[in-house]
Amino acid sequence: MMTSASACGKIILFGEHAVVYGRPALAAPLTLLRARARVEPRAQSGILIHARELGRVYELSAATPDDALARLTRLTLDALNASANLSIEIESDIPMASGFGSGAAISTALARALAAFFDKSLTPLEISELVYETEKLYHGTPSGIDNTVIAFEQPIRFTRRPPPARNEIAPFLIARPFTLMIANTGIASPTKITVGDVRRGWQMDPATYEKLFDAIGEIVAQASSALARGENARLGELMTRNQLALSALGVSSREIEKLLDAGLRAGAQGGKLSGGGRGGNVIFMIDPRDAENIKRALLDAGAASVMVTEVGAKH
Ligand code: PMV
Repeated sequence: MMTSASACGKIILFGEHAVVYGRPALAAPLTLLRARARVEPRAQSGILIHARELGRVYELSAATPDDALARLTRLTLDALNASANLSIEIESDIPMASGFGSGAAISTALARALAAFFDKSLTPLEISELVYETEKLYHGTPSGIDNTVIAFEQPIRFTRRPPPARNEIAPFLIARPFTLMIANTGIASPTKITVGDVRRGWQMDPATYEKLFDAIGEIVAQASSALARGENARLGELMTRNQLALSALGVSSREIEKLLDAGLRAGAQGGKLSGGGRGGNVIFMIDPRDAENIKRALLDAGAASVMVTEVGAKH
């Protein structure tokens, strides 16, 4: 009677931050990294949650209101119209607060495992909407891109629309797979803080910020058409342009710039921070033949870890 399910991590390719303000963004699943959830019946009454990475075992009934796993469990059971005495175990290879969508992946794995346990099905959109409710606990105004790309597990062009309109969710075509190098700064930077800082900047100087968001929206449009046509040679330069706009929004950092500089000098075709910024990850478009050189340069420049992934390849 035990069921389990997993969910991938994600990487934002283009458009973070501007996506909070209604511009489109592109994100892709990161299938190398996964979160897993296991659900089984329990003899005692109530629901026990064991979150391995957090080193926590607790009763659902004792969870605080800001506990994402508890909230997701309650919402999913309501959506499934189900109840039972359960033991839930969560584990994840996805580093937390690094821009890989660890929170959304854990929640997605858990929603999938609960649905499977009760032999019911939830659509990717239903799962995404449940997970969005928990994303709000991590930062106040999430665009919804993380839960969407992770629940759909395919490359997504996402545009936030204020209710009652529905967000635009369009799987996008990657005509030719490409190689991405991802360097982790090793700095955990909560998205809540950078999103809040961008909001304050926007409130103080809306004209400048709106122009930057428009510029990012335009880069996303160009990147979408380059990806659809297989014009991968354009992607590096578009990433670097996106990075300049992010830096103007104030979400880059010395460590990010240092890694970008090292990667580009070692032969990457372009690069940018990915996610909330100030820490987390820096992504590079690379030719796989240059991977070893670039990786070494990034580690020498202080990257905590470096990985290489194919985006758009069938798994
Ligand atoms: O830090 P991450 O990878 O969860 O990405 C956040 C992306 C932002 O655009 C900065 C915020 C959002 O909710 O879209």
